[in-house]
Amino acid sequence: MARPVAFVTGASSGIGLATSILLASTGYDLALFDLDYDPLENLARSLQGQGAKVVAVDGDVGSEGDMNRAAAAIRDEFGRLDAVVANAGINGVWAPIDDLAADEWDRTIRVNLRGTFLTLNRMVPLLKERGHGSIVIVASINGVRTFTNPGATAYSATKAAQVAMTQQLALELGRHGIRINVVCPGAIETNIGSSTEIRHPEEAEVPVIWPQGSVPITGGKPGRAEDVAKTIGFLLSDAARHVTGTPIFVDGGQGLLR
Ligand code: NAI
Repeated sequence: MARPVAFVTGASSGIGLATSILLASTGYDLALFDLDYDPLENLARSLQGQGAKVVAVDGDVGSEGDMNRAAAAIRDEFGRLDAVVANAGINGVWAPIDDLAADEWDRTIRVNLRGTFLTLNRMVPLLKERGHGSIVIVASINGVRTFTNPGATAYSATKAAQVAMTQQLALELGRHGIRINVVCPGAIETNIGSSTEIRHPEEAEVPVIWPQGSVPITGGKPGRAEDVAKTIGFLLSDAARHVTGTPIFVDGGQGLLR
């Protein structure tokens, strides 16, 4: 039987990287997408060594042309698509609302929200051709359960919108046999700090003292990218065949506390 094919955005690092490794090890062929070609090519080579067929496409999730190239590469290399992980994202600038520049706001919206839209807009036709499919969007506890990261207004808005998109599209895509779910991670150890700029948090925060250990299940330690990847793997799999339109929190209980 032909191996199923998954498309993963933001595949070079963190949650996208862990998800790509997990999916390759569970029998998927992969189309990997991220900004720079070299890290993707290295990852592709290592996953190919484990028996997966892999195509690497460098591009910006916010660019129609780049997403068109990704869809064309999937069509050429595999002729099918079964699963989509819309994961690429940035923290962007966290600043008081009257300090945040319009182009800073736009950049966060472009990567996190327009990027999610374009990923689905260009990939859903491939899933519809198969008559089935599973999509997982990577949102966050921010904007969904948690509103205490000072200045994260643009970020939170994009993450809340991703949850709304998931619920809206679960109804629209059900008739095509396509499921769509969303994972909402809490603090996870990745490289996302490098896409974060924080200005004047003291002007936006409400000062509170958190109880010791703000991630209850780990006594305060952040989760690992693999923890999120395993949940994504479950949602993509047939084990979740009756699950759609559902947010799943992968936060060790953090979002309930803060
Ligand atoms: P990361 O920074 O380690 O990885 C993100 C990847 O996305 C990078 O490889 C980056 O090059 C890529 N990327 C960024 N902008 C892109 C663009 N315009 N086009 C294509 N690729 C782009 O971050 P991490 O933590 O793995 O983040 C993945 C997702 O998880 C994001 O959507 C983030 O909002 C979400 N998340 C992360 C949390 C954390 O604590 N690390 C918590 C909650 C949600």
